Amino acid sequence: MEPVVALVVAAGSGSRLGGDIPKALRELDGRPLVSHSLEGLAAGGVDRAVIVIAPGLDDDFAGVVAGSPIPARCVHGGAERQDSVLNGLAAIAADPDLAAARYVLVHDAARALVPADVVRRVIEALIGGAVAAIPVLPVVDTIREVTATGSATVDRSRLRAVQTPQGFSRDVLELAHQLVADQDLQVTDDAAAVEALGYPVVLVPGDREALKVTEPLDLLFAEAIVRSHA
Ligand code: CTP
Ligand code: MG
Repeated sequence: MEPVVALVVAAGSGSRLGGDIPKALRELDGRPLVSHSLEGLAAGGVDRAVIVIAPGLDDDFAGVVAGSPIPARCVHGGAERQDSVLNGLAAIAADPDLAAARYVLVHDAARALVPADVVRRVIEALIGGAVAAIPVLPVVDTIREVTATGSATVDRSRLRAVQTPQGFSRDVLELAHQLVADQDLQVTDDAAAVEALGYPVVLVPGDREALKVTEPLDLLFAEAIVRSHA
């Protein structure tokens, strides 16, 4: 079995959520969001984690690392999410314990309640030969595209909302993020980076519970989900 490493990106400030501590450390049911994420990843088959945090916050994340269900360490992120992923990938490549990993799953710490089954589906797709595998959901809202002259309905049956963890062959993800950095491209997720390199992306079913805590309302949803599991 190949070891599976998760890169948990947690270096954002959480400006849309607000509050005075980093979003990944905000508590949900008495534990930081990032700790919930680590539990979901571990339950779904991830063996090790690298948590990408904002520089200077190592002491704040020490308890998260100590309480992680799988071996975890922190590295420092960058200004944009894609910079944080690049730094995390460099840390994996430089770590003798992690560099043997063929697969890497990139996960938003803010998707705290990702179900183990979603993680499992991503890993299974990689083991089955996918170079990139990402969880998606049908779009429930009707979507309009704003155009120069007005707006038009988009056929939502063709659209999917994208979640994390996104799984990749580690070598391909490294090449993809190098390309993104070299060509100064802007990508909002890792699948887009791999796609820019020309690789196909396999879709697996996501789950509404893997919602990204972005705004205060999302934290209320997450609290309700935790209560429904009790
Ligand atoms: N992230 C990161 N490094 C950055 C920016 C974002 O590691 N420079 C991480 C966040 O910590 C988060 C994930 O990427 O877990 C998804 O980003 P988002 O939900 O946008 O989080 P923030 O950037 O922290 O929030 P906001 O955009 O509201 O400031
Ligand atoms: Mg952000």
